[in-house]
Amino acid sequence: MERINVGLVGFGTVGSSFYSLIEKHKNRLKEQLGVEICIAKIGVRDPGKKREYIPEGVLVQGYEEILKDDTVPIVVELMGGVEKPLDLISRALKAGKHVITANKALLSQYGDKLFKLARENGAELKFEASVGGGIPVIKVIQESLKGNEIQSVTGILNGTTNYILTRMTDARLSFKQALEEAKEKGFAEEDPTLDIEGIDAAQKISLLASISFRKWVNYRDILCEGITKVTGKDIEFAGISGFVFKLIATAKMTEKKAIVTVFPALLNRNHPLASVREEYNGVLIQSDFLGTSLYLGRGAGGSATASSVASDLGDIIERIRMKALPDPVGMPPVEKLDLFPQDDLQYKYFLHFVTDNKPGIWAAVTGLLASNGINIESVHQKWEDPVKLSDLYVLVDKTRELFVRKAVKEIVDSPGIHKSSCFFRILEG
Ligand code: NAP
Ligand code: HSE
Repeated sequence: MERINVGLVGFGTVGSSFYSLIEKHKNRLKEQLGVEICIAKIGVRDPGKKREYIPEGVLVQGYEEILKDDTVPIVVELMGGVEKPLDLISRALKAGKHVITANKALLSQYGDKLFKLARENGAELKFEASVGGGIPVIKVIQESLKGNEIQSVTGILNGTTNYILTRMTDARLSFKQALEEAKEKGFAEEDPTLDIEGIDAAQKISLLASISFRKWVNYRDILCEGITKVTGKDIEFAGISGFVFKLIATAKMTEKKAIVTVFPALLNRNHPLASVREEYNGVLIQSDFLGTSLYLGRGAGGSATASSVASDLGDIIERIRMKALPDPVGMPPVEKLDLFPQDDLQYKYFLHFVTDNKPGIWAAVTGLLASNGINIESVHQKWEDPVKLSDLYVLVDKTRELFVRKAVKEIVDSPGIHKSSCFFRILEG
């Protein structure tokens, strides 16, 4: 074999970077892999749009031509969305084509079916770029840690929200300004709600939980909160108290059930993930023989993500050449993972009450926390102007999620305490 044809679907942030990578490293890849990679066709929504450097006849509308082309054994899906990629990938796998995707939204919903399809058709389905952008975290879990039992995976898995929180903290940008910047830099999903509401991170941690614990997790079943409630005031108070805000995704195996969560958490500023900034992602893995290991790198953006896509492509080409397909490690079983009840989760909490300035507020807050069995660690009030609302910050000891939710609801229903009050979890360890 001297040349291998690849069909690329999607030529946006990631697709165009992947194309540049293959063009730039054509000779190096040929030396490493022993074949010339040729991006034979590129499917896009609008082939009329001006795109630089693409040879005539390569751009096509949609993906039908790529599916039909028997000279294309590998399809790279970088178009995003769910329904169309599901159609494309299912049909490509049924036709025995190998597939590479960066699409966590698709895999977290249909991964079990698609991996089954790949197995049945002797095809590979590779997805390194779907989690952690350029960090080879799927490879670490599936290959490097093969000899370990994975106990937990804790990570910053969304570049957009990490970028927003970093800019809100360092440059005191508003949430809206920071989101605009993240969009301009190509980090955000086409629908950025997926990023800011924690859904993208939930999809990614569900995939990591599935491959770590070898059972499937539906991201819709997990505790998932985004960063839209985090204000500049929360960040400021957290900073004064020695914490930084990060959107943290966790998958942890307890005796029988798994804790899988995504929420904005306060991290001690010495925590290994506290220094992960901007669009970078960080993944902390606890496993029985290696112990703690940390993986760091750019979690969003075209070039970082293209690096992972290219790594999958190299792996597939090597396996094709060795006639060693399909790769069984990439295919988790279809059994469902049992999740730990959300009400029974336990954390320390940071509560932020927005209140009127009048007597009895502290009494209501402290009384209702006490009646719910919640132990207060410290109380701070910021009270600048008697006619303005004040901010009451309460740090509480470890308690059950159920108790905090109930106490906060009762407090917010009390006179003089406003609905914009909220609570966040503090991540220990
Ligand atoms: P994007 O910039 O919005 O690009 C999407 C591309 O897909 C465009 O070229 C578009 O064509 C094409 N497309 C859309 N619908 C199509 C269809 N029906 N048929 C053929 N082509 C179609 O998206 P992106 O940011 O590169 O993201 C692509 C995927 O990578 C998503 O699954 C995303 O979650 C994932 N991902 C992104 C990043 C990142 O940092 N951006 C990182 C990791 C993973 P037109 O150009 O004609 O509009
Ligand atoms: N929107 C995603 C993020 C892209 O910001 O992390 C990388 O998956």
